[in-house]
Amino acid sequence: MNQVMTPSYRYMSETDIEVSRDIEINSNPVPWTDKNFLDCLRKDYYCLVQEVDQEFSGFAIQTISLDQSHLLNIGIKEKFRNKGLGQELLEQIVHASKSMGCKKIFLEVRVSNSPAIELYNKTGFKRVSIRKNYYRLPDGREDALVMSKRLKKPWRLF
Ligand SMILES: CC(C)(COP(=O)(O)OP(=O)(O)OC[C@H]1O[C@@H](n2cnc3c(N)ncnc32)[C@H](O)[C@@H]1OP(=O)(O)O)[C@@H](O)C(=O)NCCC(=O)NCCS
Repeated sequence: MNQVMTPSYRYMSETDIEVSRDIEINSNPVPWTDKNFLDCLRKDYYCLVQEVDQEFSGFAIQTISLDQSHLLNIGIKEKFRNKGLGQELLEQIVHASKSMGCKKIFLEVRVSNSPAIELYNKTGFKRVSIRKNYYRLPDGREDALVMSKRLKKPWRLF
């Protein structure tokens, strides 16, 4: 059963890289490096931090180009999982894309990553295709599932 938690949001800065990277190390077989996060910040991607009672609970990073956005990564700290916060964060990302005029949002996810695939399904993403051998593994490669969600203009900005 999900607990009720009210998260807040702010843009990511370089001081958030360490905790974001810890989430990656604990959940991704080939985790993003500090440099991956730094590059996203320097390229001015849309990098969002979620906090609960002023504690870092998660992050999400997307790129926005013309009328499409691309979710590059999302992660919730282990102690905050299964409380509805991943879905909240994803909905913020989707809303930001809509507000900036995007008509579609795309993402890739490891085919073995059931929690994330379930989250995307629940948030209205549909399966588009499979990209063979898209992800590295410590001892090989893994396919990616490509998913997308069509976006409608929000009736108000927030
Ligand atoms: C995927 C992730 C972001 C989900 O965050 P979360 O805060 O635990 O998810 P929520 O509590 O908001 O769950 C929302 C929905 O996602 C799905 N879900 C979440 N965790 C799940 C799990 N372990 N197994 C199956 N479905 C799961 C469910 O549909 C859930 O809805 P429900 O609670 O009504 O069943 C989190 O597990 C995570 O950070 N994983 C590691 C990083 C990662 O894999 N990122 C994706 C990169 S593509």
